[in-house]
Amino acid sequence: MSGVKDYKEYMILDKLRGIKRAVLIGSGKGGVGKSTITALLGLRMRNLGISVGILDADLHGSSIPYILGMSSEVGVEAVKGGFKPLEIHGIKVMSLRMFVGDRPVPLRGERKKEVLKYLLSMTLWGTLDYLLIDLPPGMGDEQLTLMKYLKGPHVVVTIPTKTSIDVSLRYFKFVNDLGFNIPVIVINNLVNSTIDDELLTKLRKVAPVGKYIIIPYCSEIEYSLSTGTIPKIVIEPIDNLIDCIR
Ligand SMILES: Nc1ncnc2c1ncn2[C@@H]1O[C@H](COP(=O)(O)OP(=O)(O)OP(=O)(O)O)[C@@H](O)[C@H]1O
Ligand SMILES: [Mg+2]
Repeated sequence: MSGVKDYKEYMILDKLRGIKRAVLIGSGKGGVGKSTITALLGLRMRNLGISVGILDADLHGSSIPYILGMSSEVGVEAVKGGFKPLEIHGIKVMSLRMFVGDRPVPLRGERKKEVLKYLLSMTLWGTLDYLLIDLPPGMGDEQLTLMKYLKGPHVVVTIPTKTSIDVSLRYFKFVNDLGFNIPVIVINNLVNSTIDDELLTKLRKVAPVGKYIIIPYCSEIEYSLSTGTIPKIVIEPIDNLIDCIR
């Protein structure tokens, strides 16, 4: 029995062997722009000639394929030894969505862990400079499972509101306590507000990471990403973000 278990672990490590760097994108809070930032990073890296993949780890709220403009009818391609990630705008993408389409997938506890381990053990990433992991909100099964296998820098995303920063700071502590490097906090201004100095001071005090990057509000972001392009206004902050995770 333990041999079977070890074989699964072996398969996961084998599939991740060709990945030079994994970057996890997370937040304690939902709806703050984690998937959008992940998609922007992927597209910008592709434009810079960096080979990149995205693992959509949001099992219930899977959105990366949709954000990048993929139709929900596109399925997964099984080949010898596993599944080929789908190439969208030059980014290799793996998502549960490619297996289930628009059907909801209620899962809990152990089952979630098994689904993620299955994706990790079956996805043929090949060689990649970067694998970006789009996490769901929270500090549960998905985070704990993936952080066991993917030991890379962690980008924490928040929006500039008191509530989001409050939740994000607890998330920051959670990631930090697990020994992960947080090189940067992204403040995604999707509420299009003036960023209050008091909030930044609070963030700095509790989360003294090296850098903060502010992503401006951009009304055409969804349309732009679905066509595989990056709005001009976010190119500079995304380049700064890439510098932080190199
Ligand atoms: N900088 C921005 N300007 C304008 N709209 C934005 C910006 N960033 C994100 N959005 C929009 O905000 C919404 C939420 O973004 P997104 O889905 O990326 O959040 P999330 O943190 O991944 O959510 P979840 O917690 O559900 O996974 C989307 O409609 C997205 O297009
Ligand atoms: Mg998301």
